[in-house]
Amino acid sequence: MYTFIMNKALAVKLNDKLAGLSPEETLSFFLKDFDGKISFSTSLGAEDQVITHMIADIDKSTPIFTLDTGRLFQETYELLYVTENKYNIKITVYFPHSKQVEKMVNENGINLFYESIEKRKLCCYIRKIEPLKRAMDGLDAWICGLRRDQLASRQNRRIVEWDELHNMLKINPLIYWTEKQVWDYIKNNNIPYNRLHDKGFPSIGCQPCTRSIKSGENIRAGRWWWEMEGHKECGLHQSPS
Ligand code: ADX
Ligand code: SF4
Repeated sequence: MYTFIMNKALAVKLNDKLAGLSPEETLSFFLKDFDGKISFSTSLGAEDQVITHMIADIDKSTPIFTLDTGRLFQETYELLYVTENKYNIKITVYFPHSKQVEKMVNENGINLFYESIEKRKLCCYIRKIEPLKRAMDGLDAWICGLRRDQLASRQNRRIVEWDELHNMLKINPLIYWTEKQVWDYIKNNNIPYNRLHDKGFPSIGCQPCTRSIKSGENIRAGRWWWEMEGHKECGLHQSPS
């Protein structure tokens, strides 16, 4: 077990220490050293399925959680079931507080997110951000499937970051991988993936807020497609400090 002092300097130090390691080696380091204080946050997207496969190979007892907003695609629920069974792992599901959802919907309507960015962010807060806080309780580090080339605002992200908002480390083992690397790994290792990926959905979130993309469009063009480019984050991933 580590005796690190948890702060931004630690993130910088670990980034230097882990430079050049593969995602598997990075995961092995954190799963061993942060045992009991680390969890993987999966949306069951392509990158997350790669990480789940790697984690299942290293240590099946690693805590893994997903945030079920209540508005996910049926295909995502099917993949959750298939993934747990294939790897013989448990993915803990966090739900939003029912009273908060009831109040929000009854005051603003069932599809409030299309009406304004403020209402969309309110929905993301109640259905994702608040449950994430509960999922992170007691942790020192969380693992995510972010990649640099997903989004302009992710281009400076690193393997190890200091998450100021949650006061913990954030580990992005696939941060330098390309989309092709992700898909080669999925195919080569026979990893289960969301069937929507074969139907023009490279990035999948909630059903009402995700559409398929046309050839030539950015891979995240289908997320909150009615909003301007600069808003295409739900608040789970604040810029690192
Ligand atoms: S989002 O902020 O735009 O929704 P994105 O879909 O790119 O995020 O996913 C990036 C990473 O955030 C995923 O690899 C995963 O680690 C985490 N994540 C996103 N959505 C969820 C979710 N519903 N449950 C758990 N983790 C999630
Ligand atoms: Fe609500 Fe859409 Fe955000 Fe999902 S992505 S939590 S449905 S606003």
